[in-house]
Amino acid sequence: MLPKGNFPQKVYLNGKIVASEVANISVFDRGFLFGDGIYEVMVQLENGIFYKKAHLDRLQENLDKIGIDFDVDTLYPEIDSLIESSGLTDKSCLIYMQVTRGTAPRKHSYPKGIAASVMMYALPFELPYINTKNMRAITANDFRWHRCDIKSISLLGNIMTNEAAMNADCDEAVLIRNGSITEGSHTNIFFVKNGKVVTHPANEHILDGITRKVLVQLCKELDLTLVEEAVTFDEIPTTEEAFFTGTTTQIASIAQLGDHTYYEGNEIGPITKQLQEAFAKLKDIDTADITL
Ligand code: PDD
Repeated sequence: MLPKGNFPQKVYLNGKIVASEVANISVFDRGFLFGDGIYEVMVQLENGIFYKKAHLDRLQENLDKIGIDFDVDTLYPEIDSLIESSGLTDKSCLIYMQVTRGTAPRKHSYPKGIAASVMMYALPFELPYINTKNMRAITANDFRWHRCDIKSISLLGNIMTNEAAMNADCDEAVLIRNGSITEGSHTNIFFVKNGKVVTHPANEHILDGITRKVLVQLCKELDLTLVEEAVTFDEIPTTEEAFFTGTTTQIASIAQLGDHTYYEGNEIGPITKQLQEAFAKLKDIDTADITL
């Protein structure tokens, strides 16, 4: 039995679509024992799954990074079947997927010749055309490991800092490593400084978000100068605007970051607004096959 909550009705598990109450995996699954797996989150909108190929390509790249032998291409028809059996064909929904190394006796080294465990589900989920929420964020020490580029299911550092944000009645935690701002607990972060858009470079200290990649392209199209350089904690008061990006966040303006107030009310900076409007228009087209 599942506890009360917004669970999906159906779960795809290793080739079968089953009721979520009976979707069980072994306690010896390496995802359960070691957090040894990769995940993805994407959303289906009116025009199909938003940047579907970009998300699935990232899943494949991440599985390759940690040596899980699995061909993500096999999932394309399975995603369609999952959405159909979840009653979500042509409906707005969120798709969660994870692939772990599989089930084997507990041993740190990678076991050979076992099948990866694959789990996916789809849940009804509505995204506003533009996210008009003005976020409040704490700053927190980025004590995560040095491979944040890997979309690992081990998210302790992310959930602990996110929980600190919730306890402070905020929406997000902005992580600081050696004085530099890396990203949010579940978002990327961008600033506007001296009229230029600035974000942390896509290296091992951040997850290179699909939304981040889309924004990099949008800046080019809108003739906005984009600088991929970390903003330091001390520089926060010298920035004009700040915003988060992410699949479920889209682009969210930041009103308050630590001790620094960007806006008292619902005001939104002009560059944030311009990017929000351009981003929203992408939802009017089919982005499923675009590579980033
Ligand atoms: N979070 N950085 C981190 C640490 C993230 O967890 C995420 C996504 C992002 C933004 O990536 P994208 O634009 O591809 O969604 C950046 C997902 C949605 C989550 O964990 O639920």
